[in-house]
Amino acid sequence: MFVHITGTGSYLPKRVVTNAELAEKLDTTDEWIFTHTGIRSRHIAADDETTSAMAVQAARQAIQSAGLTPDQIGLIVVATSTSDYHSFPSTACLVQEAIGAKNAAAFDLQAACTGFIYALEAARGMMQVNPCPTLVIGADMMSRIIDWTDRNSCILFGDAAGAVVLEASDVPGGIWHSILKADGSGAMLIYREGGSRDLATGPWLQHTLQMNGRAVFNFAVKVFDEILCGLLKRSGYTFGDLACVLPHQANARIVEAVARRMKVPMTTFYMNMETTGNTSAASIPLALDAAIRTNAIKDDDLIAMVGFGAGLTYAGILMRWRGLAGKPKSEVCPSATCAGKTVTEK
Ligand SMILES: CC(C)(COP(=O)(O)OP(=O)(O)OC[C@H]1O[C@@H](n2cnc3c(N)ncnc32)[C@H](O)[C@@H]1OP(=O)(O)O)[C@@H](O)C(=O)NCCC(=O)NCCS
Repeated sequence: MFVHITGTGSYLPKRVVTNAELAEKLDTTDEWIFTHTGIRSRHIAADDETTSAMAVQAARQAIQSAGLTPDQIGLIVVATSTSDYHSFPSTACLVQEAIGAKNAAAFDLQAACTGFIYALEAARGMMQVNPCPTLVIGADMMSRIIDWTDRNSCILFGDAAGAVVLEASDVPGGIWHSILKADGSGAMLIYREGGSRDLATGPWLQHTLQMNGRAVFNFAVKVFDEILCGLLKRSGYTFGDLACVLPHQANARIVEAVARRMKVPMTTFYMNMETTGNTSAASIPLALDAAIRTNAIKDDDLIAMVGFGAGLTYAGILMRWRGLAGKPKSEVCPSATCAGKTVTEK
């Protein structure tokens, strides 16, 4: 059984905030931000928007582009660090209700900016047991949790959602190799207080993201190389075989440093952070959707996705892109409701 991405979708809030606009309130400049990050602008959600509302827009597009209806979805996994509610209900349940995916199980997964790749792999693993069409969403509203007076961090982030539909199929290709890793020793390099730890110090507060930017930069360059080389080594391919690498869109200088370190051309890396900033768990599916819509990725391309973020977490996926060509030719999964395979003990 192969697991293919058969549909993609994305959502960016309407409001665009440029570096120049940030420079009106912060001790920074458009030139500093662009030369240090490759970011010129980002989209910021309206006050009445929510993470689930962004996720719903991306989800509807992804389901439509896969040629499915919401009732055919058997599972929804939302990767987010900025769910609508502190603890519950999950954003995935809110999405399930809003899109009418009445046959779907739903849960959230948190692995910060690596969340989408972790969610893809969690979903792919669950599909081995229950091969239903599955919706995987990365959605984050970082604007709600950053300190808008901290020039070291607030210039980096934006809001967005990206979604994909996974389908199980007999058609060879799809998601092939993956590497998922974590290094909790770096947990305090990016963190946000406001959880159970606060019971020791006082009431739950609206804490903001704290980050050691330089240390995270160095970590990202090192692990990006490790993941990408690891994926290529496992699969027996070389960098030249890749049509496209979709990096987590954190900072263009990170990707440039990786390319220099690996001695590979920048042209293989797909980047859109210039107009989106770092959208955390949404970053890779947002870039994927843009790459598909602009033909930067075509059927039969070998592509890699590499993510890194708080935790520290880092991960990558290697896949043979088939798009709609990867849709089930035989009935791997009954198309309406998917109640799971019946398993007998003997
Ligand atoms: C945050 C980041 C852009 C800072 O860029 P940098 O080149 O590493 O800059 P440094 O932190 O070394 O700081 C250099 C100087 O620029 C200043 N500076 C930082 N942000 C600035 C800004 N927006 N405008 C102007 N100056 C700024 C610093 O205060 C420092 O000044 P000092 O030398 O007087 O102390 C960069 O480290 C980065 O992108 N790190 C990765 C963060 C990330 O990706 N996080 C999410 C991971 S999922």
